[in-house]
Amino acid sequence: MSQAALQYATSNSERFLEELKALIRIPSISGISDYHPDVRRAAEWLVNHLNTTVGFTNARVVEEVGLPLVYAERIIDPAKPTVLVYGHFDVQPVDPVELWKTPPFEPTLVGESLYARGAVDDKGPTLAIVKALESLIATQGLHVNIKILLEGEEESGSESISHYVEHNATALACDYVLILDTGMVAKDVPTITHSLRGMTYVEITAKGAKGDLHSGGYGGIAPNPLQALAWVLSDLKGRDGYINLPGLYDMLRPLSTEERAILERQSQQRGELLMAAAGIDSFPGEKQYSAMERMTSRPTFEVHGIIGGFVGEGTKTVIPAEAKAKVSLRLAPGQDSQKVYELLRKRVKELSPEAVTMDVVWLNGGEPLLLPLDAPVLQIAAAAYGAEFSEPVEYVRGGGSIPVAALFDRYLKAPCIMLGFGLSDDNVHAPNEKFHLPYYAKAVRSCIRFFSLLGGANG
Ligand code: BES
Ligand code: MN
Ligand code: MN
Repeated sequence: MSQAALQYATSNSERFLEELKALIRIPSISGISDYHPDVRRAAEWLVNHLNTTVGFTNARVVEEVGLPLVYAERIIDPAKPTVLVYGHFDVQPVDPVELWKTPPFEPTLVGESLYARGAVDDKGPTLAIVKALESLIATQGLHVNIKILLEGEEESGSESISHYVEHNATALACDYVLILDTGMVAKDVPTITHSLRGMTYVEITAKGAKGDLHSGGYGGIAPNPLQALAWVLSDLKGRDGYINLPGLYDMLRPLSTEERAILERQSQQRGELLMAAAGIDSFPGEKQYSAMERMTSRPTFEVHGIIGGFVGEGTKTVIPAEAKAKVSLRLAPGQDSQKVYELLRKRVKELSPEAVTMDVVWLNGGEPLLLPLDAPVLQIAAAAYGAEFSEPVEYVRGGGSIPVAALFDRYLKAPCIMLGFGLSDDNVHAPNEKFHLPYYAKAVRSCIRFFSLLGGANG
């Protein structure tokens, strides 16, 4: 089974790599508007590739409320299962660019690692699914129906795809969703993720006087919004890791003793590796919960950046008039991003001190996802994916977010199958992002096996 397609993938592996490099060279950063033409170019590259090389005929750019989507489908037999393939072709910004050892958009092979922004998140894994489809179409043919939906703004709001999924649920109807955009618990351990966290990402603006003030002339009587922001941020999370947002933990879906034990065991296995990959030697935070529980099944509160005041050379005795902070909460299953946003707005207003006003503006977010582990399709996925590795398949909850995944669950009622090919030291979102290149071929092969098994192909 699937031998011809696997053979095709092997014979064409050099070209598959060149194609991945071509896609990576397009700097499709969705978070910076100067790069939006490149996001569009990446969409067009994929459409053209699907129609000229992969064997699709109807791939097209879909214009929506935000950045473009890519859609294609190949329906071979309505009686066969339908898989919706999802991936994202946008990438994170590259700053601080001076920390990159090779140019971020010039894919560079060092040993077995392909260095570039987007190499593992998510151009490599996404293109791997596409190359698996090409390998099947060129040889034994497809035995499942395929719908491909790719987005160019996963890293910055998922506006288009959210709108599209909500309004095109009938056209997108499918039995399963296949996503390659998650990680592995350790090198060479095939890892299926069955849960993702949600997110509420906001900007808090604190305002005091109408303009900057002399800290001598006004020091002692004027409000300092930067200080006020620091107070509020530290009020919101204690040193014990507990988030002081009344109502936040009430929404949390409780873990069973069994679920907690799994997270406990995984913490024992992964703790050292996670510390080493991050260069830290302890895990500050809620000590009463295991590391994996905190990383996947508890909410977080993080300050991403604080902007304000004087940071230039020398000294300037000024009381700033304004300060801003970018802040997010990761949400665990049970928690609702809009409700958390409301709780946060209310709390920030309550905490803001005399003579300072604080505004909380929504920037980005999405809902958490939790899938049952007993779906029969997971057995098929595990067999296909596991065949490429010698270690058994691990099932984990993920700490990250893929906002559209919860929408697939809600509007299409189809389970997401998330096969991981990222390693903890891949520098995702950071300088020197890399993709462990042997996993490109393994991802292609896993997907070939998955589609073949699912379609009951023989030969
Ligand atoms: N591929 C990641 C999501 C991910 C990472 C899932 C690790 C599981 C494990 C994705 O590209 C991502 O970075 N998502 C953002 C979404 C956010 C901007 C709403 C994230 O998690 O920060
Ligand atoms: Mn991703
Ligand atoms: Mn990402």
